[in-house]
Amino acid sequence: MPKTREMLFVGFFLLAAAVAHSEICTDLPEDISAEAREYSQHVQGISKRQPSSYPKEPFISGTVPPGFLWGTSTAAYQVEGGWNTDGKGESIWDHYAHRSGRTPWGDTATDSYHKYATDVQLGADMGMTAYRFSISWPRLLPDGTLAGGVNQAGVDYYNKLIDELIAHKMEPLVTMYHWDLPQALQTKYGGWTNESMVDYFNDYATLCYQKFGDRVKRWATFNEPWSFIVPGYGLGVSPPQMLFGMRRRQYEVAHVVIKAHARAWHTYNDTFRAQQGGEVGIVLGAPWGQPRNTSDPRDVQAADNFEQFFLGWFANPIYGNGDYPDAMKQMINGDGTEKPRLPVFTEAEKAYVRGAADFAGLNMYSAYLIYASNHTLPLDFISAVIPDLKGAKDTEDPTWPHGSSSSTVLSYVVPWNIREQLRYFSEKYSHKVPFYITETGISEKEQFPPNMNDTWRQCYYMLYVDEAIRAIKLDGRDVRGFFAWTLMDNIEWGSGHSVRLGLHYTNFSDPNLTRTPRVSAKLYGDIARSGGFPEGAAHSKHTQEWWDWCHTMEPYKGTGTGAGWYPGMH
Ligand SMILES: *[C@@H]1O[C@H](CO)[C@@H](O)[C@H](O)[C@H]1NC(C)=O
Ligand SMILES: *[C@@H]1O[C@H](CO)[C@@H](O)[C@H](O)[C@H]1NC(C)=O
Ligand SMILES: *[C@@H]1O[C@H](CO)[C@@H](O)[C@H](O)[C@H]1NC(C)=O
Ligand SMILES: *[C@@H]1O[C@H](CO)[C@@H](O)[C@H](O)[C@H]1NC(C)=O
Ligand SMILES: *[C@@H]1O[C@H](CO)[C@@H](O)[C@H](O)[C@H]1NC(C)=O
Ligand SMILES: *[C@@H]1O[C@H](CO)[C@@H](O)[C@H](O)[C@H]1NC(C)=O
Ligand SMILES: *[C@@H]1O[C@H](CO)[C@@H](O)[C@H](O)[C@H]1NC(C)=O
Repeated sequence: MPKTREMLFVGFFLLAAAVAHSEICTDLPEDISAEAREYSQHVQGISKRQPSSYPKEPFISGTVPPGFLWGTSTAAYQVEGGWNTDGKGESIWDHYAHRSGRTPWGDTATDSYHKYATDVQLGADMGMTAYRFSISWPRLLPDGTLAGGVNQAGVDYYNKLIDELIAHKMEPLVTMYHWDLPQALQTKYGGWTNESMVDYFNDYATLCYQKFGDRVKRWATFNEPWSFIVPGYGLGVSPPQMLFGMRRRQYEVAHVVIKAHARAWHTYNDTFRAQQGGEVGIVLGAPWGQPRNTSDPRDVQAADNFEQFFLGWFANPIYGNGDYPDAMKQMINGDGTEKPRLPVFTEAEKAYVRGAADFAGLNMYSAYLIYASNHTLPLDFISAVIPDLKGAKDTEDPTWPHGSSSSTVLSYVVPWNIREQLRYFSEKYSHKVPFYITETGISEKEQFPPNMNDTWRQCYYMLYVDEAIRAIKLDGRDVRGFFAWTLMDNIEWGSGHSVRLGLHYTNFSDPNLTRTPRVSAKLYGDIARSGGFPEGAAHSKHTQEWWDWCHTMEPYKGTGTGAGWYPGMH
C-alpha cells in the first residue's frame, strides 16, 4: 500500500485531529490572533502559500547499470484472494474486512492465488526482469506459529510462483510482512505489542529462507513499518485497530518491529547467507520533506525533523547509529523526568540493530512542503498524525503538478523527491548499502469506461524513471532496481477497486478478472527493455517531446483518489 498521506488525510483526518488535539492543546500558543491569521490564509487559498520554487529538471538521456532490476510491486492481501483457500489462516485484514458493513474485497482480490501464471506473463510481456511480491504469513503458518503447523498448500503456491518467475527470467524480491498478520497472533498475544513477536517473526522468516531461499536472493522483512504501526496501533483506524496508542504504544510496537527485523537479518547472516548468498533489507516509506524556504534555517531544521519522525524512526537505528534520531528522543522523551515514551535501546541492542541490512528499499511517491511554525492551526498531516513532532507544519506547493482532486496530497507529482531522498539517506547514514526503489506510482479514480490511455501515469513514469537515472548518473547513487506500484489494479485495502494504480486495467465486473495493458504498460516496458532512456530511442524522443507538458497540471486531470478512501470511514 503506497499512499500513506492520502489515507491519513482523506480517511481519518477528523479522528486523528481529535486525538492529536487532546495531546497538544496544552501547547496552544498565547498568540491566538497570529494563529487565526495563518489559518485564514490557509483557507483563503493555496495561492498565498510560499512555493519552494524547486527547479524543473531538464530531461536527460541515459541508461542504468547492467543487472539493474526492472519490476512491478504487489502485496499478498491486495492481489491473492483465496483468503481461506487450501488451509490459509485468517489475517488481521481478513478479520477486519469481514466485520459487518464492509465489503471483503480481499476475499478474491485479483485472484492471483489462481492466476499467478497470468500475472507472471504480464510482467514478461513488459520485459520485466524482477517482480516484488509478498508472502502471506497466515498462508504459510495458519495460526502464525510453527507449533500450529506449516500449510503445505501455501508452500506449494509460493514455489509455483517463484518457479514461474524464474522460468520467465524475472528475479523475485520478496516481502515477508506486508501487513497481513495472522489474526491468531493478534487475538492471542496482542500482535506487535508483544515482544515475543520477535521470536514468532523469526520462526516465520526462517521458514521462508528454508523453503524459498535457494531461489529467492532478495528479502525485505517489512513493508513500510510506519504505515501499519501508526494507523494500526497509534490511531487505531486500520487493522488491528488498537485505539489511542499515539503517545506510547506505537513507539513500543515500532521497537518490537525493529528488533524483529534485526533478528531476521541476523538469522540470515548467521545461518543462510553462506549457502544461499542473498541479501536481506527492509522497505521504508520515504515521503520527502522539502523545506519551504531553503534559505531559512528554521524551515530546513523543521524539514529535517519531519524526515527523522518518518524515515529516521527506522532508518536511524538500522542504517545509522543503532539508536533513534536525536530529534525524536528530545521531543518525545523530553528532559527524561518522566518514564520515556520512546523506548530506549540497550548498548547491546544498538550493536545488534546497527547495520542489520544489506540494502535499503525505499517507497517514494511524493513530497511535503515543510515550514517551521509553533501554531496548531491549520490542521495538517503533522498535527493530526505526528503530534509529537513540534515546531513543524506541512503544506504543498501549488506549482507542483497534481490531479483534479487536489485535496488529496497524494496526487502531487514530485519526481525530484527521489533524488533528494537518496541524497539525504546517503549523507545521513553511515551504513552504506545499495538502494532499490521498491514502490512508486500514481492513482486515479475508477472511471467508466476506463481510460486506457493513462497519460498521467505515462508522464509520471517518464519523470520518475528519468529522476532515478539522474540520481545514478549525476550523483553516483547505487540504485539497483525500480519497481512500479503496481502491476495491475488491485484491492487498495479498504477502498476496494475504486482507486486504481495499475499498469494493467483489471475488470472487476468480469468473473475472469481480465487484465488489460494500459498505454503506460507499453511505455514502462519500452523503458525497461532498453535500460532507461538511451539516446535516439523512440520512447526517449517521445518523453522529451512530452517533457514540458508532463510538468503542467494538464496530463493529471484524470487522477484524484476518491473520497472515503480509508477503511476507517467505510
Ligand atoms: C505475549 O505472548 C506470549 C506468548 O509468546 C504470551 O504468553 C503472553 O501472555 C503475551 N503477552 C500479552 C500481554 O498478551
Ligand atoms: C555476518 O556473518 C559473517 C559471516 O559469518 C560474520 O563474519 C559477521 O560477523 C556477521 N555480521 C554480524 C553483524 O553479525
Ligand atoms: C527565506 O528565508 C530567508 C532567511 O531567513 C529570508 O531572508 C527570506 O526573505 C526568506 N524568503 C522568503 C520568500 O520568505
Ligand atoms: C517555536 O518555539 C521554540 C521554543 O520556544 C522556538 O525556539 C522556535 O524558534 C519557535 N519556532 C518558530 C518558527 O517560531
Ligand atoms: C494518448 O493520448 C495522447 C495525448 O492526448 C496522444 O498523444 C496519444 O496518441 C494517445 N495514445 C494512444 C495510444 O492512443
Ligand atoms: C468487463 O467485463 C464485463 C463482463 O465480462 C464486460 O461486460 C465489460 O464490457 C468489461 N469492461 C471492459 C471495460 O472491458
Ligand atoms: C478467462 O480467462 C481464461 C484464461 O485467460 C481464458 O482462456 C478464457 O477464455 C476467459 N474466459 C472468458 C469468458 O473471458
